[in-house]
Amino acid sequence: MKYFDIAVIAGDGIGPEVIAEGKKVFSGIAQMDGGFSVSFEDFPWGCEYYLKTGEMMPEDGLDRLKDFDAIYLGAVGYPGVPDHISLGDLLLRIRRGFDEYINLRPVRLLKGAPCPLADVSADDINMIVVRENSEGEYANVGAHLYTGTEREVALQTSVFSRHGCERVIRYAYELARREKRSLTSISKGNALRYSMVFWDEIFAEIGKEYPDVEIHSLLVDAASMFFVKDPGRFEIVVTSNLFGDILTDLGAAIAGGMGLAAGANLNPERKYPSMFEPIHGSAPDIAGQGIANPLASIWSVSQMLEFLGEPVWAERLLTAIETLLVERRTLTPDLGGHAKTAEIGDAVLEILRNR
Ligand code: NAI
Ligand code: MG
Repeated sequence: MKYFDIAVIAGDGIGPEVIAEGKKVFSGIAQMDGGFSVSFEDFPWGCEYYLKTGEMMPEDGLDRLKDFDAIYLGAVGYPGVPDHISLGDLLLRIRRGFDEYINLRPVRLLKGAPCPLADVSADDINMIVVRENSEGEYANVGAHLYTGTEREVALQTSVFSRHGCERVIRYAYELARREKRSLTSISKGNALRYSMVFWDEIFAEIGKEYPDVEIHSLLVDAASMFFVKDPGRFEIVVTSNLFGDILTDLGAAIAGGMGLAAGANLNPERKYPSMFEPIHGSAPDIAGQGIANPLASIWSVSQMLEFLGEPVWAERLLTAIETLLVERRTLTPDLGGHAKTAEIGDAVLEILRNR
């Protein structure tokens, strides 16, 4: 029997509320299947921990996570703790420290999910965004000089290494080849003449090894427009760290909202654990009310199952989410329902049991 050992960082705000549902579903599936078992270890890291200890996670945090099969993360961020600290000292530290250089974000409109675009059906929005996750605009290089004087200046440098660009672009080509779908690179070579021109060159270069993959290149401003006007043109998308961050929030908006958007931070070589999370934040505006939508977190469990070698359960779980959306009986308020967060996991499990 397979045994999955999962580290859980539920984090702040709605993080613990939505993660509880994901754990419920994961354990429930393990009980149904009998082919694998799962255990969770909770780490109480995040902003509350920071307010008590002065750090978001302990000094040896990465060491304590490194032997798990995967990390399941809720959200971090809380009023009173600067966002660059909560994000930088926990989330980005794990992404960088574990070389999770692929951020895989499905932008897929499930049947029954709300879409603000007119005349769009589920088939029209079905893409996978491969976002660079280790360098680029979020490389953490810069300076803040002459603070408080008239000469004050802030510098924030992007890092585009050949190694970093090649590995994410190659990953995207491989995915496109495997899935027999087109690949679109999104960049901004007309204005960012060093970093993005370099990116475009590498995209074209590696493309020579994949003559079977249909490719397109778009500038990020035009791509944003097409995400809204013609999302059907995108299948596999590869883009930089910052552009991927922004485009996938836009993607979430056209594919059911923040409550339905999941993301995987992958170390494809499996040298370190990968991390799975909903892409939304800690939503302080609704935290503590028990109304947060946990479907993004549950979708992350599906991504985790896929990565852990359980693709059949991954797909079944996604289908169960779709059934829940179509039936409309048990949905949280963001999706027009009246259900509480804590009812959603049970509803998903019930669908899985009765399938
Ligand atoms: P947010 O994603 O927390 O919230 C944006 C809006 O979407 C809010 O109105 C919220 O109520 C709603 N929303 C988000 N998730 C929802 C869910 N599951 N169900 C129902 N409604 C949901 O983004 P915001 O407000 O910009 O950031 C809040 C905090 O979260 C900040 O401290 C920020 O730094 C942090 N953050 C953390 C992230 C992470 O841990 N991965 C990602 C994004 C933001
Ligand atoms: Mg984001």
